[in-house]
Amino acid sequence: MAAQKDLPKYTVPSLTPEEGAKVAAILQERLHALNDLQLTLKHIHWNVVGPHFIAVHEMIDPQVDAVREMVDAIAERIATLGVSPKGTPGAIVSGRSWDDYDLGRASTIAHLGALDEVYVGVITAHREAATATESLDTVTNDLLIGHLHDLELFHWFVRAHLESSGGSLSTGGASTETGAAAAAEKSAQGKP
Ligand SMILES: [Fe+2]
Repeated sequence: MAAQKDLPKYTVPSLTPEEGAKVAAILQERLHALNDLQLTLKHIHWNVVGPHFIAVHEMIDPQVDAVREMVDAIAERIATLGVSPKGTPGAIVSGRSWDDYDLGRASTIAHLGALDEVYVGVITAHREAATATESLDTVTNDLLIGHLHDLELFHWFVRAHLESSGGSLSTGGASTETGAAAAAEKSAQGKP
């Protein structure tokens, strides 16, 4: 539970200040994650090379726009709960529990493999946050569920590039961005 000095002076009606602080803390982590995601997506937009460049380059921008809308909605929900949202670059870096995206200039298929892993991480944590707010604050829960509709759709857009006609993913079994990138590239080159 948040210390007394960290509690908001007010929060939304029907929540206690303790509950408001707890929901805001859950949202703050999602704010870091989606701020990181929208920057990472732009980084990919700028760094993809090779065949299918324009398709992947142009697929990414609507995802950036949508994630930026989610960032704004999350930050404004934190403020609505009576807590100050933290959106500065330093706060993102010190507040996150994951490493920077691994790839620089790389093939479209390598970036898509790594992005598959990125979306797995973001969506898994977003679902956990949605579950954690289910009984605590239905409005925040609804906000996060709304984001998941789009995040899971975007994840499918990425995975459709990695999927065989038999329905398996070339990144299947990978657990790191570099591992997924290497697996996707190997599969695209026709190697078993
Ligand atoms: Fe651009």
